[in-house]
Amino acid sequence: MTKHAKLHAWVEEIAAMTTPDTVHWCDGSKEEYDRLVRIMVDEGLATPLSGNKLPGCILFRSDPSDVARVENRTYIASRTKDEAGPTNNWIDPIELKNTMRGLYRGCMKGRTLYVIPFSMGPVGSPISKIGIEITDSPYVVVNMHIMTRVGAEVLEVLGENGEFIQCLHSVGKPLGDGESDNGYWPCAPLEKKYISHFPEERTIWSFGSGYGGNALLGKKCLSLRIASVIARDEGWLAEHMLILGVTNPEGEKKYIAGAFPSACGKTNLAMLIPPIPGWKVESVGDDIAWMKFGKDGRLYAINPEAGFFGVAPGTSMESNPNAMKTIDRNTVYTNVALTEDGDVWWEGIGYDAPGKLIDWTGKEWEAGRSEGPAAHPNSRFTAPAKQCPAIDPFWEDPSGVPISAILFGGRRPTTVPLVHQAFDWNHGVFLASNIGSEVTAAALDLTAGTVRRDPMAMLPFCGYHMGDYLKHWISMGGKTAAEKLPKIFYVNWFRKAADGKWLWPGYGENSRVLKWVFERCAGTGKAVETELGYMPTVDAIDRTGLPGLSDADMKELLRVDREAWLREAELIRENYALFGDRLPKELLEQLEALEKRLGK
Ligand code: OXD
Ligand code: MN
Repeated sequence: MTKHAKLHAWVEEIAAMTTPDTVHWCDGSKEEYDRLVRIMVDEGLATPLSGNKLPGCILFRSDPSDVARVENRTYIASRTKDEAGPTNNWIDPIELKNTMRGLYRGCMKGRTLYVIPFSMGPVGSPISKIGIEITDSPYVVVNMHIMTRVGAEVLEVLGENGEFIQCLHSVGKPLGDGESDNGYWPCAPLEKKYISHFPEERTIWSFGSGYGGNALLGKKCLSLRIASVIARDEGWLAEHMLILGVTNPEGEKKYIAGAFPSACGKTNLAMLIPPIPGWKVESVGDDIAWMKFGKDGRLYAINPEAGFFGVAPGTSMESNPNAMKTIDRNTVYTNVALTEDGDVWWEGIGYDAPGKLIDWTGKEWEAGRSEGPAAHPNSRFTAPAKQCPAIDPFWEDPSGVPISAILFGGRRPTTVPLVHQAFDWNHGVFLASNIGSEVTAAALDLTAGTVRRDPMAMLPFCGYHMGDYLKHWISMGGKTAAEKLPKIFYVNWFRKAADGKWLWPGYGENSRVLKWVFERCAGTGKAVETELGYMPTVDAIDRTGLPGLSDADMKELLRVDREAWLREAELIRENYALFGDRLPKELLEQLEALEKRLGK
């Protein structure tokens, strides 16, 4: 048992406030994992899946009101509203703590309080951070076992007075005397849900939700929102990025990081299998990268997570065979559909639903007869990263992997070419600050065809003022020699032809763009200078074995649409106005330089 007095005092204080029946310190063992799974199965909260098809796998169904991150209930409670900036929700921290203390009072009655010591990043690595999550959800404990490194060795590293990030979580559903969950996912109604961050104190308080990023506090809350603040103060980067390694036929390897807004296929890109002979892609992570300069002046990245919390729908042997092979054992499924023989199914799994299913709400479901999807569109798998057949041999290297290139991208049916390379670091930060996805008619509160900007894909995950965040990115470029900085690329897999068809095949074929990026970093990739940046010549992207894509298609994919870019520049200016005088002047200069190149 730890002798960390501050940790004991905090656990006692929270236990006194939340009044659980018992307190359990997690040791991260398989025995603990299995015991908690058994308890949840016995209580009807979890369904064991077929031991033949999916050994060690279980299925949960959440409450229909608790199926995704709740951005409108997520708060950055810095001392002042100005520090949180225009893109975050803010409540005065004293007021918010008072409100939440009222909610936490007695909220764990009838439940166990679990203390989870966890490390984001390899235990003991100088880049890693230790968190302690207090939760009343055994579902959270088993997910944290997979997504982070949990257990006694974390407490050992913490010692008697090491620093840790306090992460407090409750599902917000106390039980009456003799009451049980009775098979229903516990949570609180939306207006009582709070996902709160206190950046100056490096503290997270989450109440009312048991789902994903709202409840597994090591992920978005610690590794992005709180870590982005620490990274600003300490001079490094905490980013919403995948990390992959590309090896060419000569055996040379380069690591690439990539930031894309949610729903742009990050997990698929991180695990792709290149169809180009001799080329190999290996995966370090699919969601988060922490990057620091090494002694040699290069930027090194670790993936702070130990698992994948991926979206199930659309994942298939065609779109992502490595993911399918990662999630065939020891995986927690949430809100996917169940088949009669204890298998899972979801829309886009690559084959028709085999007979009658139980859908994510627990009802019988038949293809063509039942309403709505069988699996929730945000249904998930939680799987250990080490199970991925393409996991990189250095994925747990405590010093990280050296990053040669950073990709940024979004979903843009028009305007943005397949790939272009920034002229230099500041130009790259400019490109990254303007990524985003075009809004479809599905989002009722936004106008279809407009672009929702998501700088560095960090809009929902930056723990401070976005203008200061952009300044931090600019300042990182001055910390090392220009030639040691990663090269920055803007990619767009989603450009459409005039007839509305996708121009680029995507998925594994994206490796053809990775190959050009690799070659640019090696100094060999052919490029032309355009108004937007360096672009591949029409023959520079390897199309061998891709007969469907003509020179004309390639030209269209790489076309600089001058009129569209003049409009884009106006939209960028409008969006920049949001950041007021906190916008770094370097980005305005970049915008003006772009307009000049376009002949405005
Ligand atoms: C995620 C997200 O869940 O970015 O990773 O929304
Ligand atoms: Mn993400």
